[in-house]
Formats: sequence, structure tokens, C-alpha cells
Amino acid sequence: MKILIVYDSYFGNTKQVAEAIGEALYLQGSVELCRAPDVALEQLIGVNLLIVGSPTRAFRATKAIDRFLDSIPTGGLQGVKVLAFDTRISAVETSSRLLNVLAALFGCAAGPIGEKLKQKGGELLAPPEGFFVTDSEGPLKGDELQRAAEWVLRALDVPSHPGTMQHHRNETIRQTPFPC
Ligand SMILES: Cc1cc2nc3c(=O)[nH]c(=O)nc-3n(C[C@H](O)[C@H](O)[C@H](O)COP(=O)(O)O)c2cc1C
Repeated sequence: MKILIVYDSYFGNTKQVAEAIGEALYLQGSVELCRAPDVALEQLIGVNLLIVGSPTRAFRATKAIDRFLDSIPTGGLQGVKVLAFDTRISAVETSSRLLNVLAALFGCAAGPIGEKLKQKGGELLAPPEGFFVTDSEGPLKGDELQRAAEWVLRALDVPSHPGTMQHHRNETIRQTPFPC
């Protein structure tokens, strides 16, 4: 299976989630990670699984993620399985009631990313998911990297074993060149 993970990240948290997802998928095929501003449409050729992740900024995905999604031609994801995720501030951590209310009203990045992927013909394997940071610049909350690994394996119906992610971390970095 050819897997492409496209992400954007300002402070590195979404990048960490994308990498954890890539590592979890190590045994499923070739995994390529690419930041959204650097991705070329040709990289979609032959892709079986496309995963797109963005930080939530002002209740939506970043411009680079939107531009990437908009650049995919109509029907361009026919036959491609897709997944969407974001990072977002944990409502428990923030004391701002207003932010919580606005977030409930306007949502986060992952939902619209999933919608766009479906509009382009992709088959959404699981509901879009959010992973939590404790503050704008991070860090990610507790076990979010493990949760991300488990989320993607569950979406693909692959059993996950405790420690799988850590076990493959070094090998993945050594053997799978991420070009971006
Ligand atoms: C300008 C700005 C706007 C943000 N807007 C939201 C938001 O609407 N909802 C939310 O949950 N988090 C929001 N955040 C927190 C981001 O989601 C957080 O910075 C991001 O998950 C970190 O990911 P990154 O390290 O990959 O950039 C915002 C942060 C910044 C700096």
C-alpha cells in the first residue's frame, strides 16, 4: 500500500502526530510524509491511502492545507482511502469559556478536511479525529501520540499491539526516507 501523509505545522505538534501515524503504518506499506506547502500533485499518483492533518487555527485548517486540498482535481481521489486529523487546544486546559463556546459553534480543522477529501472522491475510513495540545505551542497532551497511532490502525482494521510504535520508531526513520 502506498501511503501519503500531508500535514502542516507551526510549532511542531501536528508534525509529531503525523510522524506517529507514519510510524504506526510502517508495516502497511511505503509511507511518505510531506508538509503541505511542499507537496506536489504528482505525489498523489498511485497513492492508496491519503492522510491529511492540520493545526486548528481560527476554527479551521491552515491556508496551506486548504490550498493543497483545493488543488486536487474533482474526482482526483476516486479509489483512494482517506483520513483527516487535526490538533486543537484541549477545552479542559483552556480557562476561556468564550473559546470553548466558539469552538463548539465553529468546530475544528479535521471535519472540513474530511469533507473536502470526500468531495474529491476519497473514501473516508473513519470519522475525522482531533488530538489535543495543552497550550497554543504545545506540548501535546499525555498519550496523544499513542492515541494517534491507535486511531489510524483502528481505521485500517489493523490490530495494534502495545509498544508497536516504539518498536518501529528507529527502524522507520532509518529505512523509510521521508522526502519532505
Ligand atoms: C493563531 C492561532 C489560532 C488558533 N485557533 C485555534 C482554534 O480555533 N481552535 C483550537 O482548538 N485551537 C486553536 N489554536 C491552537 C492550535 O490548534 C495549536 O497551536 C496547534 O494545535 C499547534 O499545532 P502545531 O504545533 O502543529 O502548529 C490556535 C493557535 C493559534 C496560534
